[in-house]
Amino acid sequence: MSTDKKIDEYSGTETTGHEWDGIEELNTPMPRWWLGIMFVSIIWSIGYVILMPAFPLLHGYSKGILGFSDRVRVSEAVSKMHADRSVQSQQLVGADFETIRADPNLMRFAMAQGKSLFGDNCETCHGARGRGFTGYPNLNDDIWLWGGSYEDIRQTITYGIRADHDETRLSSMVAYGRDEFLSSGEIDDLVQFVLSLSDPTTQNTRGAALFTQNCVSCHGAEGRGTRENGAPDLTDADWLYGGDPASVRTTLFNGREGVMPNWNERLGADQIAALSIYVHSLGGGE
Ligand code: HEC
Ligand code: HEC
Repeated sequence: MSTDKKIDEYSGTETTGHEWDGIEELNTPMPRWWLGIMFVSIIWSIGYVILMPAFPLLHGYSKGILGFSDRVRVSEAVSKMHADRSVQSQQLVGADFETIRADPNLMRFAMAQGKSLFGDNCETCHGARGRGFTGYPNLNDDIWLWGGSYEDIRQTITYGIRADHDETRLSSMVAYGRDEFLSSGEIDDLVQFVLSLSDPTTQNTRGAALFTQNCVSCHGAEGRGTRENGAPDLTDADWLYGGDPASVRTTLFNGREGVMPNWNERLGADQIAALSIYVHSLGGGE
């Protein structure tokens, strides 16, 4: 590089001394703001390399004097979450409903757990948010086959209904036609009688005696159902298997035995408790 400075006569700026065919290159200095940013960046990056993890090394990486690690931070957060959860899970297992309800944190925990477990395990049969299908009860109303208290629901979920477990809930709707307990004509009379129970505009007395003889032991004297037998109320407009004459006839002819699996072998007691809280809240809760 030559030392003698040459000033361009038109712009008054120093030239680099490079010249081609009479055209000379100006040596315009870098703007100060640009240089400022560059120097600050250099200082900042030196500081960063000293404090924070930066370079890959042969075995591992430069850790920096702060010893910061995202991986350690995440794993600490995860183990804290597990610890919090296991405390709350333990609380859920032993607690009765009043205790859980009185503790807003525990209640929130149970609802969140219950909701996600319900989505994973129950919606295939009970529908989205437990709205139900024919043969699979709607869990959002306050109509219960086997009882809608927290304890009843927990019992149902734990041991199931007509499931393969000694303590499961049993009893079923008898197949009056198929098993030849009643004649076809008697079944027709009973269908009309059953339909009249929920529809006060129709009167049917022919089936009444047959109903008293055959049905009240499970469905109750007035047909309002009994929970010990999981026998539905026949006087409301809510039908598990359909309330048109053909569906009711099929029910009486072939019987019904809805199966609800027992969950005690697949889920923990804490998970069942959380599910029971969630299901209880869906129906408004008894
Ligand atoms: C394989 C299908 C199936 C799955 C999966 C299932 N259920 Fe059920 N559930 C049923 C059937 C069928 C009934 C009705 C049984 C009857 O007719 O008495 C029922 C009944 C119930 C009842 C009793 C309702 C009442 O009126 O007393 C509750 C509570 C319940 N289920 C909760 C659950 C929960 C919670 C889960 C998930 C852990 C679940 N179910 C998963 C089929 C299922
Ligand atoms: C041994 C007890 C028992 C007897 C006796 C019995 N039922 Fe039932 N019934 C049930 C049960 C349990 C169910 C529910 C079945 C299920 O959930 O899968 C049911 C269901 C029904 C249903 C379906 C209701 C709906 O919501 O879809 C009708 C209708 C019915 N019974 C009518 C009768 C009539 C009529 C008689 C007498 C001829 C009778 N039952 C006798 C236990 C009984």
